[in-house]
Amino acid sequence: MTDFRSVFGADPDGVWAAPGRVNLIGEHTDYNDGFVLPIALPHTAKATVRRRDDDLLRLYSEQGDGRVTEVGPGGPTPGAVAGWAAYPAAVVWALREAGHPVGGLDVHIDSDVPTGAGLSSSAALECVLAAAADGLYGLGLAPAELALIAQRAENAFVGVPCGVMDQMASLCCAEGGALFLDTRDLSQRQVPLDLAARGLRLLVVDTRVKHDLGDGAYAGLRAGCERAAALLGLPALRDLPLAALDGESARLPAELRPLVRHVVTENARVEQAVALLDAGDPAGLGPILTAGHASLRDDFRVSCPETDLAVSAAVAAGALGARMTGGGFGGSVVALVAEEARQPVAEAVTAAFAAAGYGEPELFTALPSAGARRLA
Ligand code: GLA
Repeated sequence: MTDFRSVFGADPDGVWAAPGRVNLIGEHTDYNDGFVLPIALPHTAKATVRRRDDDLLRLYSEQGDGRVTEVGPGGPTPGAVAGWAAYPAAVVWALREAGHPVGGLDVHIDSDVPTGAGLSSSAALECVLAAAADGLYGLGLAPAELALIAQRAENAFVGVPCGVMDQMASLCCAEGGALFLDTRDLSQRQVPLDLAARGLRLLVVDTRVKHDLGDGAYAGLRAGCERAAALLGLPALRDLPLAALDGESARLPAELRPLVRHVVTENARVEQAVALLDAGDPAGLGPILTAGHASLRDDFRVSCPETDLAVSAAVAAGALGARMTGGGFGGSVVALVAEEARQPVAEAVTAAFAAAGYGEPELFTALPSAGARRLA
């Protein structure tokens, strides 16, 4: 364990934190202009930061290789920074590209967001940098503006064509609630999610199957959705109403139909979930989560044997519902459980993994936590 002073030999100007997220429902809808419903995790990326008099960017991570990555002068350029440092460097690049006067920074990162687990560890890194740079350089940008900067950083610098959900979740979620976000216009509402008051818990199962959105599969799915929307003459799949799904999809090539079905039914599931939460019935979310998983498994085809097993074992052991969360191809499952079922469900999932010969999963209870903030 190091601290800012021992790495950079000076006192920091401030400390910021930005969380990872669990998406409750609304998967692969964000790049289709649709709806999402994430919560922020208690796990955060923390950045202890000092403003510099020059343009230099010096980055150190507790989870890195013990070396300081130095970028500049001239600033970061896409392709020139690799590994974890690409995410914070990308944000400084995107801020400068957008014309914001951001000078040099010394940055000490310490993150406990599990990496490669579909819990947005990279968005947490991006967003903590965006919030810190905004604070130290007095940019006065709104959280949603910072989220768009962080998304552009990931799209154009890191090279992952992600939507805006993870960055919006990390910057805009509030403690005790889920963020109901319309990704078309970024209009948002915090939906109260007091699970404890209803005797409920959200159990997260990190399957430890590392997911990597940079490998082309995610980009391929996004391209498929965009092609389908273009063939239907729509700005985005968001614009296809559920009632028109069957009739309209018949006009599409067979391989695109399941993608469209997932996106259109998933948007409807988000709206149903929000209606249930507004009506004070969070337990009603269970079947919606499980239906969402079936759609990701059978139609969108982004689950894997480990996430499928975690879902089926959790539901068989009494979870009200469960689904994979995040981009897929591994990563995590979220299960809604009654408080007294938490332990039996956790044990059943762990036992099912052992019986299948899979590595041991990591389990924790997720509490809807605060979005990015200044700590000191
Ligand atoms: C990843 C992306 C998000 C979103 C999800 C799937 O987390 O970063 O933008 O597309 O996958 O819902």
